[in-house]
Amino acid sequence: MQNSWPSFTLRRYTRRSMFGLFSLSVLTSVLAACRQSPTTDTAPSATLSTPSAQPTTGPARGTLTATASHTAARTYSVEPVFAELELGPHRVRTFTYNGQLPGPELRVREGEVLRVFVDNRLPEPTTIHWHGIPVPNTMDGVPDVTQPAIAPGTQFTYEFVVPVAGTYFYHTHVGLQLDRGLYGALIVEPQQETLSYDREVTLVLDDWLDGIVGTPEDALRQLVRAGHGDHGMGHGTMPMPPGMGTMPGTGMMPPLGGFPQELPPDLLYPLYVINGRPIDAPFQFTGKRGELLRLRVINAASATIFRVVLVGHRLRVVHADGQPVEPLEGDALRIGMGERYDVLVQLDHPGVWPLVAWAEGTDATALAILRYKGSSGSLAPVTTRPSELAGELLHGLRLRSVNGERAFTPDIELPLVLSGGMGQYVWTIGGQAYPNAEPIRVKLGQRVRFRLQNMTTMPHPMHLHGHFFRVGQYPQGTLRDTVLIDPMQEITIDWVADNPGHWAFHCHHLYHQETGMMRIIEVS
Ligand code: C2O
Ligand code: CU
Repeated sequence: MQNSWPSFTLRRYTRRSMFGLFSLSVLTSVLAACRQSPTTDTAPSATLSTPSAQPTTGPARGTLTATASHTAARTYSVEPVFAELELGPHRVRTFTYNGQLPGPELRVREGEVLRVFVDNRLPEPTTIHWHGIPVPNTMDGVPDVTQPAIAPGTQFTYEFVVPVAGTYFYHTHVGLQLDRGLYGALIVEPQQETLSYDREVTLVLDDWLDGIVGTPEDALRQLVRAGHGDHGMGHGTMPMPPGMGTMPGTGMMPPLGGFPQELPPDLLYPLYVINGRPIDAPFQFTGKRGELLRLRVINAASATIFRVVLVGHRLRVVHADGQPVEPLEGDALRIGMGERYDVLVQLDHPGVWPLVAWAEGTDATALAILRYKGSSGSLAPVTTRPSELAGELLHGLRLRSVNGERAFTPDIELPLVLSGGMGQYVWTIGGQAYPNAEPIRVKLGQRVRFRLQNMTTMPHPMHLHGHFFRVGQYPQGTLRDTVLIDPMQEITIDWVADNPGHWAFHCHHLYHQETGMMRIIEVS
């Protein structure tokens, strides 16, 4: 199997210094230049999604409107709106972008301007966050921190230069809205693609409860109530918190044993979907024998870590959170909430194959189907635990950056303990539960090290806005925007605070984030 991989080239970031030492100074000066040139956009602007895209009543206050006149722009319209979706046997009325699940896939080229008109047709305020893209602060979509939320019936225009290629996604940043359908893929094509492959498929993974067992708000109430010892779950329709988890220091931590562990999540969902499709009406994609397939895997779930396998095939990870890594081959891919991985698959076993995304710690999976062209065969048996899941596991901490070893001497080092538990259902960073938390202040240009210690029994995918960070102190730590930290694990992240503003830093487990696991990093 090892030799069956054709040779391919990797993109190396030599054109720009920003990924040399991941300094965004180049980006910052580009953006500064953009801010100073309040010209109209003379470049051809491609309207890609909705031909009827009407300019809105104009950018809301605080919007960055100026674009460099030489820069091409891609314009989309995204409408947060109620829609009725068919999810297998379930008909649900939920929040969507443009009435579809996931929302429209947005594509833009590295260095271009992305302009998105948002017309909020929901009955509540909303925002859009461009997960992983180092945008100017006013475009980051964090309500009350970087902008007032977009009120029902009003419009807002997001507009910024997209400085990095790779696989990203966009989603709401208001309350528990992400656990409805407000998310979509954001693919940034490089100016020149140096990775060779024959076709690509985007797979957006999600856990689903809205409209099946109540609302996300119901789920949160359930978690909080269960934590306070009132197990009022008599009606039996809500997801059941397994009730595990202890506060640190009680001596009840599970032994560290194998890593990563297969812990039960704190919410069991009634449904898991890929590209909005349930297991009994799965998303299907095709390939041809001999081709090299690129899978862009995005975990948009609110509370579920997945392990992804393609039965009959090996997976080769080539990008993590949009950034190139030394290729690593294995059988199963572990992906936390907010993480993205690009994976190459050599299509050398004609047939019809299940792609299974096992919801870690449960008995449930999401499913998609790969069908080889010309293959009339029937689907290989689908099981919730294909043997590949017991094979070699790919996960973030095994990956190495292509950028080589870097010395990093931090100007400041901040120990941040991740704490909390199922008991109170309050989750903290550095002992503070947002919004009752002080901003963490760093100076513009400072080299910052966060020492993140997970003192809980749950894994936490920690996500930083506005910056990439380098994981770990070992050589060739990968550049990420999200890092999954397992129970009792300590991880350092190194980053250069070169993007001024107020940036969210939080757990991408939505229910942890909503109950305190977030801080604001003030870069000034
Ligand atoms: Cu993907 Cu602050 O979020
Ligand atoms: Cu968490």
